[in-house]
Formats: sequence, structure tokens, C-alpha cells
Amino acid sequence: MAEEIKTFKVTIDNITIDVPAGTTVLNAARQIGGDVTPPAMCYYSKLQGSGGKCRTCLVEIAAGSIADPRPMPKLVASCRTTVMDGMIVKNITSEKVKDARAGVVEFLLLNHPLDCPICDQAGECHLQDLGYEHGKEGTRYEFPRRIFEKEDIGPYIQLHMTRCILCYRCTYIADQITDKRVHGILDRGEHAEISTYISKAIDNDFSGNMIDVCPVGALTDKTFRFKNRVWFTKPVDAHRNCETPGCCGKATLWLRGDEVYRVTVRKDEWGEVKSYDDKPGWICNTCRFDKKKTSDWVIEGVTKVNRHSVIAQGR
Ligand code: SF4
Ligand code: FES
Repeated sequence: MAEEIKTFKVTIDNITIDVPAGTTVLNAARQIGGDVTPPAMCYYSKLQGSGGKCRTCLVEIAAGSIADPRPMPKLVASCRTTVMDGMIVKNITSEKVKDARAGVVEFLLLNHPLDCPICDQAGECHLQDLGYEHGKEGTRYEFPRRIFEKEDIGPYIQLHMTRCILCYRCTYIADQITDKRVHGILDRGEHAEISTYISKAIDNDFSGNMIDVCPVGALTDKTFRFKNRVWFTKPVDAHRNCETPGCCGKATLWLRGDEVYRVTVRKDEWGEVKSYDDKPGWICNTCRFDKKKTSDWVIEGVTKVNRHSVIAQGR
């Protein structure tokens, strides 16, 4: 007889659902969707161990469980907190959360340059959306922003360390889907930075996926850099018979006319890579950087952009 899956009732912003035990508050909220879902800048469901770094997903736990209905004294990271039976969570219905989130945005922007007009990530940058939806108009910060020595990390990926928010996603990618990680976060606190081991280029077959998981413009595609604004391009779903082991061969091509300006993984409404047969649909560097002709691909049709974003304009 199949084992019965234990479920818990959780109420988020007055909406009650049943979720399997062990589900995080963030993933429970994603099942409801819309505004009830907290933003997430570092958690990435397809990368084990991600989350717990950025604090954008903070929520208020108004009641811990049926067994112990006391509220939690502090706001908690929803990506790292599992639901309990009878838990009551407040996200957009909590003034404390709104205030704390505005504070987190202010912190993230302390050192982040406001160079959206020249940044290739503009239009699909999660920090841009976060600042717009949850940030304040002004800044109270009067000190110079951090600056870093420019570092070349190879022919395909441009690192702009000043834009990095230290979410660690790119290091998880390198650990989990490439065969050798040559970059990581060096130093601590104010001095912490993404760097390669003695400026070694990142040349693994799957390194390009780091560009797709970076929520800001810290890692961008050198082959697309400064070529076009993303909202002028038209995303289409396409596939090819790729022989690289581990590559799903399913991608989004960003076209202007018949020209392929860039190739990315296909993304879901949370900005994460889509899964196929329960496996994340990562693509190899050959598909991403070398297959820049429409004749290299079988075009399936216009990409449906679920995310509320300017990238939906080009369809
Ligand atoms: S480079 Fe991008 S993905 Fe890597 S830690 Fe910085 S913000 Fe995150
Ligand atoms: S998404 Fe939860 S702490 Fe970053």
C-alpha cells in the first residue's frame, strides 16, 4: 500500500492551503502565487543549499502551529523555514514585513551602482524589480560605494563585481553542474567578492548557466553585451538535438528580425530554469554561445513570459 503523505495546513495572507510536511513557507506561498509570494534573490529551487543569504523573503509568523500558537518573536527567512501544521504567516498583510523588506532593499542598494541605463540585465533584473516594488525613493547612504579591480574571467562571461549582491547562486551552479569550480567568494564583509582562483578563466561546458542564475547584472553574456536592449528582442522557444551530456537542448532564443542575439535557458515565472522530466533544463556553452543562427534550431513558437516584466513587451 502506498505510504500516505503527511500534509500540514498553513495560512498565508489569509489564504489556507495544505502542503506536504517539510515544505518551506516560500514554496507554500509559491503554490498560492501572485503577491502572496515573497521575493527571493538568493534562493533557487534547483540549486541545493541555496537561500538564507539575502533576507528579501522575510515573513512574519503570527502563529507557529496548532500545538504552539505563539507568534515567532522575529521575522524569519521564508526560504529556510518549514511550515508547521496550523501555522499562520503574514507577508504583504504585515506592516513589519513591508518595512523590513524596504530596509533590505536599501541595504542591497548601498553598494549596487544605479547603472541600469547601461546594464545588460536591465529589464530582467530582479533587483530592479525588487527596488521598484519594495524600495524607497531616496537613499540615506552618504559614503563612497565599493569598487573592485576589473577581473577577466574568460571569453564568455563578463563579471561586474560592483553589481554583485553576494547571493552565492553562481557558486552553487559551479559546484553542482560543472565538473570543477574555479571561482568562489573571497574575503569577508565589505571586502567579500566573487573571484576566480588566480584569475583562472571559467571555461567549463556549463559555465554559461551562471549568467542565467545571477539575479542582477554582475554576470552577463559577453557575446550579447551592449548589442541590444532586452525589451527590443523577441523571445522564442527553440530546441536542437544537442549531444553534450547533461544539456537539455531546449532554450529561449532572443531574436531581432531573424538574428539570434542571445540564447538562454527557458525560465519559469520565478525567473528560475524550467524543469524537464523533473530535471532542471540547463544548457551547454555550445548551445548558448556557438549556435547563433535560427537554422541551428527548431523554433517552437513565441515564449510565454509569465513574469511581470518589461521583457514581455517584445513578444
Ligand atoms: S555574481 Fe551574481 S550569482 Fe554570483 S553571487 Fe554575485 S549576484 Fe549572485
Ligand atoms: S531568498 Fe530567502 S534569504 Fe534570500
